[in-house]
Amino acid sequence: MHELQDILEQAQQQFAAMNDEAELEQAKAKYLGKEGSLTQLLKGLGKLSAAERPAAGARINQVKQGIEAALQQRRDALAQQKLAQKLAAESLDVTLPGRGLGMGGLHPVTRTLQRIEQLFHSLGFATADGPEIEHDFYNFTALNIPENHPARAMHDTFYLDPQHVLRTHTSPVQVHYMEENTPPLKIISPGRVYRVDSDATHSPMFHQVEGLWVDQDISFANLKGVVQDFLQRFFEQYDLQVRFRPSFFPFTEPSAEMDMSWKGGWLEIGGCGMVHPNVLKHVNIDSEKYLGFAFGLGVERLAMLRYGVNDLRLFYESDLRFLKQFN
Ligand code: PHE
Repeated sequence: MHELQDILEQAQQQFAAMNDEAELEQAKAKYLGKEGSLTQLLKGLGKLSAAERPAAGARINQVKQGIEAALQQRRDALAQQKLAQKLAAESLDVTLPGRGLGMGGLHPVTRTLQRIEQLFHSLGFATADGPEIEHDFYNFTALNIPENHPARAMHDTFYLDPQHVLRTHTSPVQVHYMEENTPPLKIISPGRVYRVDSDATHSPMFHQVEGLWVDQDISFANLKGVVQDFLQRFFEQYDLQVRFRPSFFPFTEPSAEMDMSWKGGWLEIGGCGMVHPNVLKHVNIDSEKYLGFAFGLGVERLAMLRYGVNDLRLFYESDLRFLKQFN
């Protein structure tokens, strides 16, 4: 039975030398195929006597298993090789410098809002919040704006239904806050407001920051001091001046427009006044005992001046070439 041992060794050697999966499968046929040498030997078993047959058969099967094992070993080795090659070809060089992720940044209006809040907080003002969809009562009636007042007209207000509007100013937050808190009160309320208006200096959505300080002896002097201190620090111009021009708002009395000195002239930056007794009455604050001032500043206006932006619409066109300049 030397012949068997030779066949096994030959198969092992041949398989080990194969480097191609298809060739390996062809080589297999030489031993285990229909015409294969081992198959021939198995067929030859019939010629042996019944006594010799079992032992011979067992030996042939052993060799057959040996060949199959050698075949499988080579198959595994080739598969392993192929995988290793693939991994090597796809490998990442982890030592290469990164490409860098685009870092997000804050919108210039958000930056401005944060700066405004920070400055007012340092003056002792808390931040209060209110809804952007307002009941007509808060946006108008409670602020002493009678039913036939022009501010209610369809042409500058987004009505959702006859009772609800997108708030046209942040002043309704004064009412919400005074309903829920007792004086002394000292808040600002930054947020979005909406008006039917759109050009280089008006957007249908823009931001205001409301200010309200109610206490026993608050005067116009306090108002001027607070606004001037805020603006000087906001613009980092410590000689900046604020002046008041008489004006009218239904919810303040007296009322004024606020201007600040800017490049040799004056620029309007918001409205203000002493809280009207009728507004205090609506929220059950005794107007004989308490006084307060309120003001409203345009946030985009402040951002445009601080950053030198000449068209307000740039803030809302989401053009990264513009927005990236602020980060
Ligand atoms: N709400 C007013 C406006 O939007 C501004 C304002 C606020 C005036 C507070 C006086 C007091 O025009």
